[in-house]
Amino acid sequence: MTEKTGEGTLQSVLHPAGWDATVISQFAWVMFGAGTLIFVAVMALLALSLRRHERPVRPALWIAGAGVAFPIVVLSALLVWSTWRSGQLAPQSSSQALTISITAKMWWWDVRYRDPESGREIATANEIHVPVGQSVYLGLNAADVIHSLWVPSLAGKRDMIPGRVTGLTIRADKPGIYRGQCAEYCGAQHARMALQVIALPPDEFKAWLARQAQPAVAPASSLQERGRAVFLEQRCQSCHTIRGVAEKAHLGPDLTHVGNRKQIGAGVLRTHEGTLAGWIADPQAVKPGVFMPAASGLDGESLRALAAYLAHLE
Ligand code: CUA
Repeated sequence: MTEKTGEGTLQSVLHPAGWDATVISQFAWVMFGAGTLIFVAVMALLALSLRRHERPVRPALWIAGAGVAFPIVVLSALLVWSTWRSGQLAPQSSSQALTISITAKMWWWDVRYRDPESGREIATANEIHVPVGQSVYLGLNAADVIHSLWVPSLAGKRDMIPGRVTGLTIRADKPGIYRGQCAEYCGAQHARMALQVIALPPDEFKAWLARQAQPAVAPASSLQERGRAVFLEQRCQSCHTIRGVAEKAHLGPDLTHVGNRKQIGAGVLRTHEGTLAGWIADPQAVKPGVFMPAASGLDGESLRALAAYLAHLE
């Protein structure tokens, strides 16, 4: 894990780090192993039949044995085993201790928690923090078109369909950053609709959640002060909420703690002042088709101030 760069582990179906992913990867290996054995055996028989001309077994017996009986036995055994093993996948139940609501939008993930203290909603984006070793229920919905949540190291895919709430239980067994990706084509930037599941020890998760529940920190310099003013002058609050500053809009990601997030643009850029400024100046150049308009008419100094202010919102 490269915690510092925020890139985390690679997205991989070969490195399960949670219960469901372990079961699914076992399915894949058993099916792949059985398929390979059968393929090798059939090829060996084929080679043998090409070299020898006498027939030690009658053709009718071959057809009944290898063509009918063998597939019935093998496929039935795999069916029984996989049905039994599927029953051990995590139950999809919203009665888990922690429920996180996730709405897929073109092309980012709106992630919401319930503050255990005040009961208020805490919104963040593109990063799902979870406590290690605990089953977490993700309530899934989509705002516009069909998307699909897939974090291969932790669980299987689940479609996210407008107007319908689906759910997925995940459990991360070791701390780490697990990359996920939208797995259903949803438009021009489908490929750049990534997310990260960040699994933290339970204490750190609690601390993170408590911090997220706080409103945005105040500017710490005159530059950041100017940045907050620019945010309001430019009417960024028509789409974005910064709790404690302006909290009416939910079109774009909540920016209350944007500086704390590892990446912006759903996995497109690492978060720091420079990338924030570049993104604000021309999001279309970074992610063509994205709904955020370019900040045309914003002078360099104001742009720098706005980026400094947002980066400060940890
Ligand atoms: Cu969202 Cu593909």
